[in-house]
Amino acid sequence: MNRKVLVTLAVLVVFLCSMQVAFAAEPSNNHLPNVKILATGGTIAGSGATSTTTVGYTAAVVPVDALINNVPELKKVANVSGEQIAQIASENMTNKVWLKLAKRINELLASDDVDGIVVTHGTDTIEETAYFLNLVVKSEKPVVIVGAMRPPTAMSADGPMNLYNAVVIAGTKEARNKGVLVCLNDAINGAREVTKTNTSLLDTFRAPELGYLGYMQGGKAYFYRESTRKHTTQSEFDITGLTDLPRVDIVYGYANNSRDGLDAFVAHGAKGIVHAGVGDGSLFTEVKQGLIDARKQGVLIVRSSRVGNGILARNGEANDDELDFVASDTLNPQKSRILLMLALTKTHDTKEIQRMFWEY
Ligand code: DGL
Repeated sequence: MNRKVLVTLAVLVVFLCSMQVAFAAEPSNNHLPNVKILATGGTIAGSGATSTTTVGYTAAVVPVDALINNVPELKKVANVSGEQIAQIASENMTNKVWLKLAKRINELLASDDVDGIVVTHGTDTIEETAYFLNLVVKSEKPVVIVGAMRPPTAMSADGPMNLYNAVVIAGTKEARNKGVLVCLNDAINGAREVTKTNTSLLDTFRAPELGYLGYMQGGKAYFYRESTRKHTTQSEFDITGLTDLPRVDIVYGYANNSRDGLDAFVAHGAKGIVHAGVGDGSLFTEVKQGLIDARKQGVLIVRSSRVGNGILARNGEANDDELDFVASDTLNPQKSRILLMLALTKTHDTKEIQRMFWEY
């Protein structure tokens, strides 16, 4: 074999050995996604007196590092680290926590060192936080919100597996650019439609009529559909300079109603009112007059429905063109409130706000 071939073979062997050394030296976790867990509290961080305590426990007591250490399997699917954004039961969620959480998510996802985010959260207002983040997160990377219906102290607690699933999704490339996701009980929901449908069952989170985006099975995420509405990087909303959000309140429709509650909200400075109407957003006569008077004072009015499903028809049960009201499309009252709060950070023009309700 001539000298030239021998030299070439020798160079090739040295090169392959050096690559082998490089791979061997490379820490195995470099092949795992980097997932940051941002904790806010809730039942997933709760504690009950006994293993059968599934009501009457204390939410928001277990710190994020303990949540992570309680699920050692996390380290097999991602490089995880945690931050405690808040430690609250989610019925006490505030604009201040929302803005702190959203700004931290955007800061972390701007880094190449972070591949996805998991937010641990109480289930009572998960659907609100999810939709808020869906409108203000400026990244295609996965953001997955997770909670639990039983505290970690309970027999068959659902939190550990929910957290494991959420971390898997946050590190899954296919979960990118799907908007903010909510995953409990192996069901993957989109932020716009997800809602809590039962006070205590483990499968409480659903997107009634429009359905799940996918499932978790055997530690793998399977997607079957995605949202048709704008979210995250497609969103025009920017919370960078915000320290609070405009006040928007919800008035509930029911038989023998009155405008008293509505008038009180307006008197206390509401910049927007969402009306959770009966049926297709129908208005009790006295309440309708209250809304007309509020509109004359510059308060933005969105007609939504207490029904929970279906399209709220513009100019259906009220002449929105004439009254200068906005129709909520399929957003329920609590999600309409979030979109209206963010819309009011951009404009007070009802035509522009109606466009937003048809696009987000
Ligand atoms: N207090 C409720 C909350 O923090 C408990 C419900 C839960 O987290 O599952 O949302």
